[in-house]
Amino acid sequence: MTQPLLKVDRISKRFGGNQAVKETSFHVNKGEILGLIGPNGAGKTTAFNMIAGYLESDTGDVVFEGVSIKGRKPWDICKAGIGRTFQLSKPFGDLSVRENIMVGGFARSADRKRIASRADEVVDFLDMKDVAEMDALDLTAFDRRKLELGRALATEPKLLLMDEVVAGATPSEATEMVELVKKIRDTGVSILIVEHVMHVIMNLSDRVIVLDFGNLIADGNPHEVVNDPDVMKAYFGEKYVQQSA
Ligand SMILES: Nc1ncnc2c1ncn2[C@@H]1O[C@H](COP(=O)(O)OP(=O)(O)O)[C@@H](O)[C@H]1O
Ligand SMILES: [Mg+2]
Repeated sequence: MTQPLLKVDRISKRFGGNQAVKETSFHVNKGEILGLIGPNGAGKTTAFNMIAGYLESDTGDVVFEGVSIKGRKPWDICKAGIGRTFQLSKPFGDLSVRENIMVGGFARSADRKRIASRADEVVDFLDMKDVAEMDALDLTAFDRRKLELGRALATEPKLLLMDEVVAGATPSEATEMVELVKKIRDTGVSILIVEHVMHVIMNLSDRVIVLDFGNLIADGNPHEVVNDPDVMKAYFGEKYVQQSA
């Protein structure tokens, strides 16, 4: 078997008395879109933060392309090829959309010309030409999400971590995002995506994993996972599962 692109091996995070993630293991294969779901507070963002180096796991290891990246800083991990979007997007307000995207490019190069041309490619790819010169703070909420994605793409990731990029989107915006994510995967980028909107997860994911109170409770194809009684229990409670059984 070929080695996975990312291997998360028994990672944990405790905040005071709150064990947010408990010895959780999973992997992302090359070329795969892996969906990560789970109720609010399940530890999804915390897991992302441990992969991207914003938090260090209390236990275990995080291995990317066969090399441990645990304990490395976010900037270093980004340079290794892991890009991410944030659940709350915070663009640099005094920069234009194009300039915000260029900021991501400095992870790959110090050559301004190369960075500018990569930013233009990303602007095109995201279909953001019309807003490229606008101040990032004047964007609609959805365009801010796309900008967030653009900054990550400018770092030329091999693995992209996306945290709730469809939150608050209209149905047509959600469809646009689904198409964008597929287009990104088609360029050879592997994707780990956290999303609450179920049809987005079902439509995009090759495989889905489920976190509940920091534990991994399911791992399988999207249809198997959403019909798993443990997963329904985590989302809807014991009573719902009994009634619908
Ligand atoms: N920086 C932090 N300090 C203290 N507690 C935190 C911190 N970040 C997350 N938590 C707690 O950890 C748990 C998991 O949170 P999070 O990873 O954000 O969940 P999710 O993204 O699945 O909604 C929650 O109980 C949350 O309150
Ligand atoms: Mg979260």
